[in-house]
Amino acid sequence: MERIVLLSPNSHDFMKKLPSRQLIAKQFPDGEDYIRIPVDFRGKEVVLIHRCYPEQDKSLVQLFLILSTLKGEASRVRVVIPYLPYARQDKLFLKGEALSSKIICQLIKNSGCDELITFDCHFLKKPGRFTYGGLNIRNLSLSHAIISYFKGKLHSPKIISPDEGASYFLVSEKDAGVMKKERGAYSVGKSIYRKPSIEVHFDVRGRNVVIVDDIIGTGSTMLKAVEACRKLGASSISCGTSHGLFLNNSLKRLKRAGAKEVIASNSIKSPASRIDTSDSLRSVL
Ligand code: R5P
Repeated sequence: MERIVLLSPNSHDFMKKLPSRQLIAKQFPDGEDYIRIPVDFRGKEVVLIHRCYPEQDKSLVQLFLILSTLKGEASRVRVVIPYLPYARQDKLFLKGEALSSKIICQLIKNSGCDELITFDCHFLKKPGRFTYGGLNIRNLSLSHAIISYFKGKLHSPKIISPDEGASYFLVSEKDAGVMKKERGAYSVGKSIYRKPSIEVHFDVRGRNVVIVDDIIGTGSTMLKAVEACRKLGASSISCGTSHGLFLNNSLKRLKRAGAKEVIASNSIKSPASRIDTSDSLRSVL
C-alpha cells in the first residue's frame, strides 16, 4: 500500500530522513485555521506528524480539520503526536469535572485516526499498545534513550523516579530508587494545580543521581526531587524528561537548585532538547 508522510507546519524538523510532504496551514484574518493537504491521498496510508504543544487548543483544532479531510478517503491514517496534550486529567476528583484525557482521545478517534503514536503518555504509564477512549494508541518510551545519555557521561549513576507514576522508566535498572510523591488539594484562584510533596526512603549520599520523569511542567516535582537529593548528600544531580514544558522558568530554577544538567526530548522544542524522537519513530513507521 502506498504511504505518504505529511508534516504539519509545527513539525518540519521531524523525520528529515523520510520523504515527506508539508501540509498547508494558514490563518484567516480572524485567526481561524485554513488547512489544505496538497497531495492525492485517496486509497493511501497517511502518516501525519503533528506537534500539539505549545498552543494545544489551536493544534488540536488543526488536527481535527486534517483528520476529517482525510476521513473516508485515505485507506489508513496514523498520527504521531510526540507530546499528547490533555493527558494529565485522567482521574476525577470533584463531581462534574471533565475527564479531558478520554474526551480528547475520543475526539481524535472520531475525527478519523486509526492509530495514534505518542511518547511516554501520562495516563498509560508504560510503553505498548493500548485502546483508550476507543482510540488505538502506540505508546513509545524514551526512558532508555534518556538513561543511556547519562550513563555515557556519569560513573555508575543511581537512576531515580520522583514518583510511582514514572517508575516504569526504571524497569531495566538494577541500581534505582522510587521517591514517594503526594499531591495536596487544588490551588484556589483561576489556575488549577495540586502542589507536590516528596519523601525519599533510600540512600543517595556520595552518588551521581539521575532523576527521570515523563513531564517537567511547572518543575515543582523535579525541583522537590533535586532539593531532596542535594540535602541527602548526592555528589551530582542530573535530570532527564521526555517532555520538557519548563513552565515558570523551571529550567533555570532547576539549575539554580543544583541540577548539573537537565535534558528533554524534542517532543517539545526547548534549549534542553537532546533526545531525538525521530530515532524511535523510524522503527515503528
Ligand atoms: C506526574 O505525575 C508526572 O509524572 C510529573 O511528575 C508531573 O506532571 C510534573 O509536573 P510538574 O513539573 O508541574 O510538577
